[in-house]
Amino acid sequence: MNVAIVGTGYVGLVTGACLAEAGHFVTCIDNNAVKIKHMRAGRLPFHEPGLQAIVLSQLHGGTLRFSTDLASGTRQAQVVMLAIGTPSAADGCANVDSLLLCAKALADTLDHSCVLAIKSTAPVGTCEQVQSFFKARQGLRPDAPRVEVASNPEFLAEGRAVDDFRKPDRIVIGAETAQAGDTLSRLYARFDPDGQRTLRMDVRSAEFAKYACNAMLASRISLVNELANIAGKLQTDMKAVCKVLATDHRIGPDFLRPGAGYGGSCLPKDLRALIRAAEQCQESAPLLRAVEEVNQRQVRLLFDSIQRYFGGSLWGRRIAVWGLAFKPGTDDVREAPSLALIRLLIDAGATVRAYDPAVCASIPKLAGRPGLELSRSAAQACRHSEVLVVMTEWQEFTEPDFSALASSLESGAVFDGRNLYRPEQLARFQLRHFRIGQKVQGKPLAAHRHAAMPAHSSPG
Ligand SMILES: NC(=O)c1ccc[n+]([C@@H]2O[C@H](COP(=O)([O-])OP(=O)(O)OC[C@H]3O[C@@H](n4cnc5c(N)ncnc54)[C@H](O)[C@@H]3O)[C@@H](O)[C@H]2O)c1
Repeated sequence: MNVAIVGTGYVGLVTGACLAEAGHFVTCIDNNAVKIKHMRAGRLPFHEPGLQAIVLSQLHGGTLRFSTDLASGTRQAQVVMLAIGTPSAADGCANVDSLLLCAKALADTLDHSCVLAIKSTAPVGTCEQVQSFFKARQGLRPDAPRVEVASNPEFLAEGRAVDDFRKPDRIVIGAETAQAGDTLSRLYARFDPDGQRTLRMDVRSAEFAKYACNAMLASRISLVNELANIAGKLQTDMKAVCKVLATDHRIGPDFLRPGAGYGGSCLPKDLRALIRAAEQCQESAPLLRAVEEVNQRQVRLLFDSIQRYFGGSLWGRRIAVWGLAFKPGTDDVREAPSLALIRLLIDAGATVRAYDPAVCASIPKLAGRPGLELSRSAAQACRHSEVLVVMTEWQEFTEPDFSALASSLESGAVFDGRNLYRPEQLARFQLRHFRIGQKVQGKPLAAHRHAAMPAHSSPG
């Protein structure tokens, strides 16, 4: 099939490259001319394992091309996909301005019938709004070609996006006509040969499914973090508790590692947008608000424990941070917990030496921030630093040279924001180890209560 993808970021480029690999002819369009120039030369604007090789081979094979021109890039497409960013607006709603502007431009330029699939995560009703642009055109020009707007949300995860796209858990297609749904099913046939993974529904349900999915994932992360915080106070071993949770088939093993909270370009903004959408239909969404609050608290708890370690003041302290990306396998720092922590540390008077295997100094969000220095290696970040904070669970950080670490870190403490290490690993090198949900010294709270409780007060 002939496919045009508008918006060549994380989602658009992975989608374009993988569809080209599956035998389609794909044009990836972006209004950022510099990005397009680099991609034409096979240079990717971001880090994503396995993607570069596919882009290069499809470019050379002639099945993938790049363009900045909307009209010519979409001219022969049977399917046009929109993968434009939908960041948070100031009030937390999804900002769909760029998406709608682009859809309006398409309503003016598309001169053939096709399916317009919205891949961006966009609020319920966005597809209907976009469809109305084409209906308006049909009102003015009854001979105008028929463009059917469908919802086709994307579920790939950065860091393993290529695998996710090639072997999807599910492909969601929200379409109002069987014809539009069938066209999109054919597009994905190589990724779901027997059709078992394709879930077809109306457009509004497909739009909502994406938000529901991210709300479930965010809730799970905040719940496990809250449980870990309680577990620490009750002097229990959260790792053992997580094993119990993981082996319950109703719960499952994923997303059960306590840590400094979630970040990235999706979960925080999509949760905010869902809460605002709930408000607009008079739903207060108390659980979703709590999920957000618990998440924001995680970084603060980590910061508090570092500050406590230094006796209440971080003024003049030198702190190494390993990991800036919001998760391993990507260089994406959008809403990364590492940045929130670094901001708190610097505001409190500390200086930070940070290292990340994929995030480079040219990232505008990081470059030139006073108090922050980016290091070329994990070891360099620790040199002349007093303590280390681990914020991303990159493979490279899982088995460090603990002996070298112990001699570098002047104050000999590791704040393990991703619960990567076993306490005994660090204890062997006289490194102090602070984890999320760590057992708090002193008598367990519940034991105090039982001891204080008079015998006759027990129920029954
Ligand atoms: N990143 C993810 O892991 C992920 C996963 C699932 C869904 N999503 C959703 O997919 C959408 C895209 O996310 P992303 O991370 O790929 O964003 P991104 O910021 O990486 O890419 C968006 C691209 O769109 C381009 N663009 C903006 N306006 C344009 C226009 N008018 N014409 C042409 N190009 C334009 C930008 O230059 C940019 O390259 C968002 O709605 C996001 O929520 C993202």
